[in-house]
Amino acid sequence: MSWKVIKGDCLEAIKENKIANIDLIYLDPPFGTQKEHTLLTRDGKSRFSYSDIWSSKDEYFWFIHERVTVFRELLKETGSLFFHCDTTSSHIIRLILDDVFGSNNFRSEIIWYYKRWTNSQKGLIPAHQTIFFYSKTNDFKFNSIYSDYSETTNVEQILQKRERDARGKSVYAVDEEGEYIINGTKKGVAINDVWEIPYLNPKAKERVGYPTQKPITLLERIINLASDPGDLIFDPFCGSGTTLVAASLCGRNSIGVDLSEEACELSTKRLNDPFKSHSLVMNLGREKYLHKDAEALSHLSNVEYTVVARNKGIDALLKEEINGHLVFVRVQRENETISEAISAIIKATEKKGACYMVVIKTNSNNEMFDKLHSHTNLIVIPSFSYQFKLCIETQSLNGRGLGG
Ligand SMILES: C[S@@+](CC[C@H](N)C(=O)[O-])C[C@H]1O[C@@H](n2cnc3c(N)ncnc32)[C@H](O)[C@@H]1O
Repeated sequence: MSWKVIKGDCLEAIKENKIANIDLIYLDPPFGTQKEHTLLTRDGKSRFSYSDIWSSKDEYFWFIHERVTVFRELLKETGSLFFHCDTTSSHIIRLILDDVFGSNNFRSEIIWYYKRWTNSQKGLIPAHQTIFFYSKTNDFKFNSIYSDYSETTNVEQILQKRERDARGKSVYAVDEEGEYIINGTKKGVAINDVWEIPYLNPKAKERVGYPTQKPITLLERIINLASDPGDLIFDPFCGSGTTLVAASLCGRNSIGVDLSEEACELSTKRLNDPFKSHSLVMNLGREKYLHKDAEALSHLSNVEYTVVARNKGIDALLKEEINGHLVFVRVQRENETISEAISAIIKATEKKGACYMVVIKTNSNNEMFDKLHSHTNLIVIPSFSYQFKLCIETQSLNGRGLGG
């Protein structure tokens, strides 16, 4: 696949490089935040930044309007544009796009939703950004993407064929004998306009330290939705080159432009070795992820706790504290010795400050080979089912029957 990164203002770059015949444009320009965006790379060696400071709302409006008007001209008749913004200016962007593309070519307002773990501000935590999807004409490219059925979907809904009745109502189709018609394997449910895709976490390998860098998974979804392999994708504000990397991974050609020399160098570096982090939440699905350790957590059914996800040594954090200290809990797994469970929680709480550790003992796996742990803040509690099992075994060993 071919790619090209051009340094400069996107308007000039388009003219100088005669950019045309584009299948899909994605743009994530400055949002009008009146801030200088800056970020230190993970190794702390360099700092990337770009300016988002404007003399007035008008200046921002016309900067975007002028460019979007030119971008529309670059698109093929079947092409589309995806404009990434947030609440700072989404109301202005929608007006501009309606004006340039025509409101009849508005396709979707996509809400990119992600979890945020902050409660530092008064009011609702912002946890989404907006992507406006406009097509050049009615004859636009669109490939449906399907997701899994929800847990509440019953097997009839999945397997049985549907059709419209005389009143236009959707009903299950039946054959001449009145039997339901089976539709065969279905692809799942076509995705809607709310996309839950995790924000890049600070330790993600994909993160290159560019301010406001977007996740490749988000760009892959847009690219797969509105283009085909071999198509040409254009990002006029490419930053660290996320769109171009995603295009490469999806088998598309791409062109990116950015004002910043450093951004262009970074994009080129990423394109020479395209890499994407794999999110466990995305791979397993949020529900499966949350319920991955449901069995372990069932041992805590009578206490109040918060699930601790993405941690190998801790399962939960109790809502109640001991002497003002946090209480972390680990449930011994079926294939694990009590010593291994204890080591896991000790390691995981190492940098968490003074805290208590509770290990729920669920079995006596290979216990005789265990080395003993002594830790003042560690409490080992046998689970109810373990105690119950021991009790039954003791009764059987004693050969005690029921007394009259
Ligand atoms: C929000 S960032 C893009 C981030 C990118 N999507 C990523 O994942 O890394 C916006 C970028 O637009 C660039 N930019 C600002 N004005 C520009 C202009 N007139 N022409 C081209 N690029 C510009 C900035 O240098 C910055 O890198």
